[in-house]
Amino acid sequence: MTSLWLADRNRPSSNTELSAEAGSSADVVVVGAGIVGLVTAVQLARAGIDVLVLEARHIGAVTTGNTTGKISLLQGTTLSKIAARHGPAILRDYVRGNRAGQDWLLEYCAANDIPVQREDSYTYAQSAEEVPAARRELQVCRRAGLPVEWRPTADVPFPYHGGVALDQQAQFDPMPLLDRLAAELTELGGRVVECARVLRVRHRHARLQLTVRNDDEEIDVKAGRCVLATGIPILDRGGFFARVKPDRSYGLAFKVPGQITRPMLISAGSPTRSIRYAPTADGERLVVSGAGHTVGRNDATGDVDELIAWTQSHFPGAVLTDRWSAQDYTPVDYTPYVGPILPGDNNIFVATGFNKWGLAAGTAAAMLITGSILGQQLPWAHAFASWNPREFSGLPTALRANAEVAVELARGWAAPVVRRRSPGEDDGVVAGPPWHLQAHCVVDGVEHRVSPVCPHLGGIVNWNRVDRSWDCPLHGSRFAPDGTLLEGPATRGLTASE
Ligand SMILES: Cc1cc2nc3c(=O)[nH]c(=O)nc-3n(C[C@H](O)[C@H](O)[C@H](O)COP(=O)(O)OP(=O)(O)OC[C@H]3O[C@@H](n4cnc5c(N)ncnc54)[C@H](O)[C@@H]3O)c2cc1C
Ligand code: FES
Repeated sequence: MTSLWLADRNRPSSNTELSAEAGSSADVVVVGAGIVGLVTAVQLARAGIDVLVLEARHIGAVTTGNTTGKISLLQGTTLSKIAARHGPAILRDYVRGNRAGQDWLLEYCAANDIPVQREDSYTYAQSAEEVPAARRELQVCRRAGLPVEWRPTADVPFPYHGGVALDQQAQFDPMPLLDRLAAELTELGGRVVECARVLRVRHRHARLQLTVRNDDEEIDVKAGRCVLATGIPILDRGGFFARVKPDRSYGLAFKVPGQITRPMLISAGSPTRSIRYAPTADGERLVVSGAGHTVGRNDATGDVDELIAWTQSHFPGAVLTDRWSAQDYTPVDYTPYVGPILPGDNNIFVATGFNKWGLAAGTAAAMLITGSILGQQLPWAHAFASWNPREFSGLPTALRANAEVAVELARGWAAPVVRRRSPGEDDGVVAGPPWHLQAHCVVDGVEHRVSPVCPHLGGIVNWNRVDRSWDCPLHGSRFAPDGTLLEGPATRGLTASE
C-alpha cells in the first residue's frame, strides 16, 4: 500500500537523531513534515528564525505523500458547501487564501525545477442527477470571482453529463516539493529530524517544553513557539478532534494503453471519482481515487473493488500498478482551522480541516502561521481562523458528528462480548469481555494480540481489511497490526496484550 509518489524513490539521506545537545532548543519547533510543516518552516527560516522540524515517521509519510496531487482552486463542490454555511465575504476570502497558496507553490516549483503539469480542472456530473450540484458550483465559483465555464461535453471515456471547468490549474508529484523544502530549510540553518514523535507540549517559564520520543528515548526540547502541523492536532486542548471528521479515501494508479485524459476531474456527487494522469519514469499512469468513508467505521473492500472495476470498464486494458490510501479532516463548517490552539494563545498554532484540498489551502495555512509569528496580518485570514463566531454555523453538524462518536464508543465496548471468532489470514477481530478486550490479527502468517483501547480517548479500534490496520472509529487514529501508531490524534501505540 505505497503511493505512486512514495514508491521506488531515492530518498535523500535524512537525520533521524535528535541528540540532547544539538536538538534541545529552537525559536520555533514545527511538528510534522507534510506540506504545512515544511512550507511554514522554510518561510520562517527565510525570515532568520531558528526552526526545528520534528517528524514522527518520515517526510511526506502521511497525507501529503498520499494525496492525489491536484493544486486547484476548483475543489469539487467545496465552494458550494462554504457558500451555504457562510456569507460571500468568507467565500471570497477562502478563494483568495487558496489563490495565494497556489501562487506560492507554483512559483516555488518553477524556481526549483519541480515538475508541475498545468491542466484544466473540472467538477463534473456523472449522471443527470448530479447536474444541479455541478451547476450550483458553477454559480458559486462565479460569485467568488473564478473565471469558470460550463462544458456540456468533454473528451473522456466515462459517463459525463456536463461540468464546470477552470482552466490552467496544476497537478504534480508532491514528494520532489517536500524534498526540496527540506533541503532549503537545511541550507538556511534549520533542522529536520525524522522518527521523532512529539508526545506532549507544556508551558514552562514563558517557554514551551516538548517531550519527544526518538530512538526509544524521551528527550525534552525547549521552544519559544510550536506549530502543530500534524494533520489533526495532537494536543486535545482546543477540542479540534471534535470539530473535524476523519475521512479516508483510496488511490489507484493504472497503466493504460493509449493517451490518458488530460484534464483533472472530480465528480460532483457520490461515488466520488477523482481522475488525473501522472508522468512517471516508466511512462504515464492514470490515477483514480475515491471510495471514501469515515475512518474506522466501514469496510471499504467492496467500494475499492468497485472503483477498480469502474476504471477497467471505461479504460479497457488498464492494469493496476499501485494502490494506497490516506485520510484528511473535514471541518464541521467546511473552512479550515488555522491559528492559535486556544483563543489568545500566541505560542502554539494548529492547522487542520483541509477537507482533502490541503495543497493550496495548506500552503495558505503556512503563510498565515508564519505571518502570525512574524507579526504580519493577511487580508483573507478570517476565512481560515481557528476560533471565530462563524463556528456556530457548524454547530448542528458538530453535534451530529459527536453523537455518532458516542454511539461508536458504546458499540466498540459492547459488541465484542458477543463475538467469539478467531481471525483468519489477513484478518483481525476484537473480542472478549470489556475487562479483557483483545485485538487479535494475523498478517502474513504472523499473529499479533494488542489491547484495542485507543490511547487517545478510549475508543475501541476496528480492523481495516484494505489497509490491514487497526483504525479508531472515534477520531481517526490508526495503528499497525502490532499496535504501532501510524497517524491521528493519538501520540502512543496500542499496548501489548497477553
Ligand atoms: C485521498 C486524498 C487525496 C487528496 N488529494 C488532494 C488533492 O488532489 N489536492 C489537494 O489540494 N489536497 C488533496 N488532499 C488533501 C491534502 O493532501 C492534505 O490536506 C495535506 O496534504 C495535509 O497536509 P498536512 O501537512 O496538514 O498533513 P500531513 O501531510 O499528514 O503531515 C502531517 C505530518 O505530521 C506528522 N506527525 C503527526 N503526529 C506527530 C507527532 N506527534 N510528532 C511528530 N510528527 C507528527 C505525521 O507523521 C505527518 O508526516 C487529499 C487528501 C486525501 C486523503
Ligand atoms: S482517535 Fe480519539 S479515541 Fe481513538
